[in-house]
Amino acid sequence: MTPALDRRAAEALLAFWAEAGVEALYGEAPIDRLAEGAERLKAKPRPAPPPPTPLRSGRPGPAAPDIGAALAQAQEMAAAAQTLEQLAEAIAAFEGCPLRYEGARQAVFARGNPQGPVMVIGEGPGGDEDAQGAPFVGRAGQLLDRMLGAAGLTDRVFITNTVFWRPPGNRTPTPAEQAVCAPFLERAVALVNPKMLLLAGGASAKSVLKRDEGILAMRGRWFEWKSADGSLDLPAMPTLHPAFLLRQPAAKKKAWLDLLTLTERLDRAGRPA
Ligand code: URA
Repeated sequence: MTPALDRRAAEALLAFWAEAGVEALYGEAPIDRLAEGAERLKAKPRPAPPPPTPLRSGRPGPAAPDIGAALAQAQEMAAAAQTLEQLAEAIAAFEGCPLRYEGARQAVFARGNPQGPVMVIGEGPGGDEDAQGAPFVGRAGQLLDRMLGAAGLTDRVFITNTVFWRPPGNRTPTPAEQAVCAPFLERAVALVNPKMLLLAGGASAKSVLKRDEGILAMRGRWFEWKSADGSLDLPAMPTLHPAFLLRQPAAKKKAWLDLLTLTERLDRAGRPA
């Protein structure tokens, strides 16, 4: 195997484990990190703290927004939006998500049919989405569209994400980043009023359903999603993220089965009793 192939294989394997929910690696023998840290502190004088990082955009805004205050502001702004257009404007004006200051070019809200019965919620915008201002428009989005099309769901979905700014390096959004964006996401669900949610990827499923299981344990199962104020509840199904399917094509069969389960319930709900 050439070094390039070795590297690709290692990256694919790491991505597979990350998607499967493995977030830490452990050795055979325990390591006392506290003792190690104490030794290092004894050995080295503490360096002066670095100066605060200037905001990349140069625009005013909190370098490390207070998450509690940001959440309260997000709730207020989201509640005031009476239409999806107003919600998109509120998101674009919201300054409380730390991701906004980490190199994102613009807010990325949603695409698709606002009357669609299925709302697809991905993790967060990637590079193509950041450039074009719409979710799932890159390679993963094209695969998602092909799968939705094959399941008869083209034009029946409204697509958004748990966060509205691209995480740097396409890393997984943190729970705090997802939490400050959640009021906007909930407001989107309320305004679209879909019949069900399809949660693409572990970071979406964990955040939306507030569960701590890996995506492989959750995918293909129905969960009940409830809005924070308890006024809405909807069936929600986690499935594998299309970016994961691009790296692990053998897993497409599982995602396909999830879509069939979803469309079966959707069609059943649409049939006269
Ligand atoms: N991955 C996501 O989760 N969302 C996007 O919009 C694009 C890629």
